[in-house]
Amino acid sequence: MTIQENISLRPFNTFGVEVSARYFAEVNSVEELIQTLRQAQCDNLKLSNPQTLQLFLGGGSNLLLTKDFEGLVIRLNLKGITEEIINVNEILITAKSGENWHQFVMFCLEKNYGGLENLSLIPGNVGTSPMQNIGAYGTEIKDVFESCKVLNLETLEIETLNAEQCRFGYRDSIFKQEGKGKYVILEVTFRLTRNIHRIDVAYGAIQSELENIGIINPTIQDVSRAVINIRQSKLPDPKEIGNAGSFFKNPTIPLAQYETLKLKFENIPGYPNGDFVKVPAGWLIEQCGWKGKQIGNVASHKLQALVIINATGNATGKEIFDFSTMIIDSVKEKYGIELEREVNII
Ligand code: EPU
Repeated sequence: MTIQENISLRPFNTFGVEVSARYFAEVNSVEELIQTLRQAQCDNLKLSNPQTLQLFLGGGSNLLLTKDFEGLVIRLNLKGITEEIINVNEILITAKSGENWHQFVMFCLEKNYGGLENLSLIPGNVGTSPMQNIGAYGTEIKDVFESCKVLNLETLEIETLNAEQCRFGYRDSIFKQEGKGKYVILEVTFRLTRNIHRIDVAYGAIQSELENIGIINPTIQDVSRAVINIRQSKLPDPKEIGNAGSFFKNPTIPLAQYETLKLKFENIPGYPNGDFVKVPAGWLIEQCGWKGKQIGNVASHKLQALVIINATGNATGKEIFDFSTMIIDSVKEKYGIELEREVNII
């Protein structure tokens, strides 16, 4: 393990944005990670405030780099999967943070372990999955999360956090709140099923896709196939077009505000949740005329307005950020709703 200087981060972010890291190291084990952090402190690498001048990279799939990074970027490449049978129907399966998420899901499905199938084909690594409590098609990782091991950056001690301590919310967790910059996720343990699976096909799009492919009693593998088909049909593959999935969160607004909007915009969709209503940001963005629209190197995806793409491959992080600001402004102006970015802005 060596600390390199002036390294391009283009291969390490799915937007494919060209920025450089002043210092860069790739670590393959917890020992290497701790050694790198100690070395950085010793060498003082001009890291006057290590907490803000360190960036830990996983798959780089939920990240927008807007400028060269002046500190130390550490790419986490910890690998390995272990299993522990709990009882006749449950297994605890632990993956190190550098495992690719989709390959991990496929590994579980090959062994017929259920619980992650609705989360097939999400870009990124296992280690970043708890950060934003990744979710799709009716499942969030909090539904199958058992615990995670983290390195506490203040003490350099390893700690274990359970689901409650992670404080999961919609695209949210302790790692985006008070734990931000405090922990590095080293591995994640999931509680999955071995025989009797909970098949969740409540999400409308899954049902229609299963009908399309002629499946009546789906297995977990069938659900995964349906999810993969849906995602491939409307979400751009980051290997082909730079993007970071949904750029914004779906906003939640008070019921009263939703009812007022409904008087003026009778087609506005909404998913009620207590005294609040979740409104699809993709719909709001499309209604403001952004779907498929390109300005310079940046566009809103033609099949899913919520996804911002690096349309030419040459977009800068700042251009993408400015494009997202224009979207926020126009949605605010038309609907009075303030969209919040889901992607981590650095
Ligand atoms: N819609 C539009 N126009 C668009 C896109 C969406 O009108 O261009 C409306 C439609 O009414 C549609 C509704 O939005 O019925 C919901 O769309 P979709 O099912 O595609 O889901 P989403 O709310 O846009 C969320 C997640 C996705 C996840 C899907 C499926 C967020 C921010 N995004 O998108 O997650 O795959 O549901 O569960 O919650 C991600 O986080 O990167 C991501 C892709």
